[in-house]
Amino acid sequence: MTISLKMRLSLLHLLLLMILLSIFSYGIFTGTRNFLIQNTAVRLRAQAKPVIDRWMNGSIKDSSSLSKEASLLAVDLTSRDTAALVMDKAGVILAKGKRLPSEPVPAPPNPSYFSKSLSGENEITYITKEKDEMFLVTLIPLRKASDPSKVVGIVQLSTSLSPLNGFLNRQKTRLILGILLILTAGALIGFWITYVSLKELTGMVETCNQIAAGNLSKRINLPRRTDEIGQLADAFNNMIKRIEELFETQARFVANAAHELRTPLSALQGSLEVLMRGAQDDPQASRRLTQGMYREITRLTRMCEQLLDLTRITKSTDIHKEKINIKSLFNEFLHYAEIMAEGRKIVINGSSGLVFTGNPDFLKQILFNLTDNAVQHTEQNEMITFTWKQSESGIIFSVSDNGCGISPEDLPHIFEPFYRGDPSRSRRSGGTGLGLAIVKNLVEANGGHIKAESILLKKTVITFSFPST
Ligand SMILES: Nc1ncnc2c1ncn2[C@@H]1O[C@H](COP(=O)(O)OP(=O)(O)O)[C@@H](O)[C@H]1O
Ligand SMILES: [Mg+2]
Repeated sequence: MTISLKMRLSLLHLLLLMILLSIFSYGIFTGTRNFLIQNTAVRLRAQAKPVIDRWMNGSIKDSSSLSKEASLLAVDLTSRDTAALVMDKAGVILAKGKRLPSEPVPAPPNPSYFSKSLSGENEITYITKEKDEMFLVTLIPLRKASDPSKVVGIVQLSTSLSPLNGFLNRQKTRLILGILLILTAGALIGFWITYVSLKELTGMVETCNQIAAGNLSKRINLPRRTDEIGQLADAFNNMIKRIEELFETQARFVANAAHELRTPLSALQGSLEVLMRGAQDDPQASRRLTQGMYREITRLTRMCEQLLDLTRITKSTDIHKEKINIKSLFNEFLHYAEIMAEGRKIVINGSSGLVFTGNPDFLKQILFNLTDNAVQHTEQNEMITFTWKQSESGIIFSVSDNGCGISPEDLPHIFEPFYRGDPSRSRRSGGTGLGLAIVKNLVEANGGHIKAESILLKKTVITFSFPST
């Protein structure tokens, strides 16, 4: 059986309340009881003291005069709620104070307390039980007036604790009733508070189940909650939003990939059909068709390679990094860039001492793709510039060209996979639109950022930076 969180919190709260109330009530109860018993003992002694003093300063001088006067002394000390016994040093009862039936029966003497009192202890008080009745007993040594160190006998005063216990029992009943009342109220309030605080959790579980069942557009709606529950709902909503975006990107990616593959495949199919219908007999047509097919297959292969690159980079987590002297890397790259540039002017511009920690193959692939784009969008006599510099946050690279530029509508999308700008501005038709997506992934896999700036018909600058490590 599982107990709900609400119920568990309420029970815990109730249990704590019960423990605290019990400790508190127990403290109050025993405190009151001790105080009342103490008070009774003090009263017994205060009543007896003047009577005993009078007798000890008067006719009781020693043990023998005590035997004679014992009964009068005992009567003197007995009252409506106090019973007195007078004993000699041997513990023999010399006199009992009780004469009238309304006067209480004295408690029997206790030998161990008696001997303590005989040895001179003044403050002996104890509680004893006799036939279901509790007595408070106090023992007072009778000292010679001439020599207080000599004890001639002991007086025992006892009083019944029944009235006091009756009062305490009534008090106990009241306390228990009070505790029950507070517990009931506490339980109700506690349950209400936990219910109000946690009631949204039930709704959240419901929403989560709907999301798990596939409805990613669902959100938890708790606009008025700013506490932890509200924060949890916000964090959850953000997470779902991100997942939804990822799903959408994924779906768009697959749809685009399928679309991109379909075009060359249809072209291939068309060419093959023409060939099969008899064009192979015409050598000229056959050559034209097979050349076209070869181009399509080359494009397909390239696209597959790029798609593989894209997924491989996204997946790679631990990238090999090493210290690279940027100038040397560019010198090496310049050789390839000049071949690609087909007559365009290549300029490199950056300090020679700069070292960058990263993956050299990634950096070369980035430069390669960006150079390819620059070449595709510039005329033969134009210029392509590579720069790098150290900044406060790290190393900034840029590749710029003064070619046809990118239109403001295209600019925000150029890093998306398969996105291609206006084909009329590119020298080469049939790019895959994957080049910049790969570049972006490579830069981000190395911990960097990339951005593009462009003025249409004037220039394009692609800037990417890596934080210093
Ligand atoms: N240097 C540039 N000058 C002008 N347009 C550019 C440049 N680089 C990229 N673009 C635009 O960005 C688009 C995406 O580039 P990319 O992802 O490399 O794909 P592809 O080169 O296969 O078209 C290009 O189609 C082009 O419109
Ligand atoms: Mg490209």
